[in-house]
Amino acid sequence: MTNFEVIIYEKQNDIGYVTLNRPQALNAYNLRMRDELYEVLGAIKDDPEVKVVIFRGAGEKAFCAGADLTEFLTAPSPVIARRVRWERDVWGLFLSITKPLIAALHGYVLGSGIEIALCCDIRLASEDAQFGLPEVGLGIIPAAGGSQTLPRVVGKAQALEILLTGRWVKADEAHRLKLVNQVVSRQDLLPAAERLARKIKAYSPIALNYSKQAITRGLDLSLEQGLELEARLGDGLFNINKRAI
Ligand code: COA
Repeated sequence: MTNFEVIIYEKQNDIGYVTLNRPQALNAYNLRMRDELYEVLGAIKDDPEVKVVIFRGAGEKAFCAGADLTEFLTAPSPVIARRVRWERDVWGLFLSITKPLIAALHGYVLGSGIEIALCCDIRLASEDAQFGLPEVGLGIIPAAGGSQTLPRVVGKAQALEILLTGRWVKADEAHRLKLVNQVVSRQDLLPAAERLARKIKAYSPIALNYSKQAITRGLDLSLEQGLELEARLGDGLFNINKRAI
């Protein structure tokens, strides 16, 4: 187990567990969390012992209540903000991970909270989960990819409505919108995520990796290019499997 200040990172039986750990501030995403998440994501990416990862939030009330409002717009200058973003591209790193990532979401899932969840591949929510993007109400736009990842998951019209109105979505509606794959009881949230993780980790890591790439990269391509990508990945996997025999 690696304990940072605001994130707990554990590994058990090939499963990585990332817990956002500022329950007293509803796991609000602050600069410290950004730095620690960057380190943890790098470790996940490089560690062959981690086959699948579960993201969750500490405490009863929230997965993550968004960016830390006490640090709101505190960057010393746009130039420095841009440099930090370049050096620590947490969201680029997140989306570049080819291992299966599962988000176990409860309570408030706001702003960066949704955006973290959208960087994951499978989202489970407990019945008490509530989702929202409050950015526009604060005079800003999502900064962690949400304006791009949300419409790719729920479609343009729903994403626009959620973002432009700041309307919150409860778990059952999130399920209808396909923002989450399953809704379970609060008690069953982690066990349900672990059941999925155990099923997934039993498969070949390279087949999981290539399958994830085929879908996530393919979605940004034309059908023709996507089919080419699938064929390339399929051939690559076939050759790897052949060499292994
Ligand atoms: N940044 C920093 N601190 C936050 C926070 C955030 N985004 N969200 C909640 N907190 C802190 C509160 O200040 C409070 O701290 P305190 O106990 O020291 O006063 C603590 O977390 C508990 O929050 P509280 O507001 O008392 O809980 P609640 O259940 O009454 O309300 C929310 C929950 C989520 C509705 C409310 O906290 C809220 O609106 N948070 C801001 C959401 C937001 O706009 N996020 C930014 C997205 S870009």
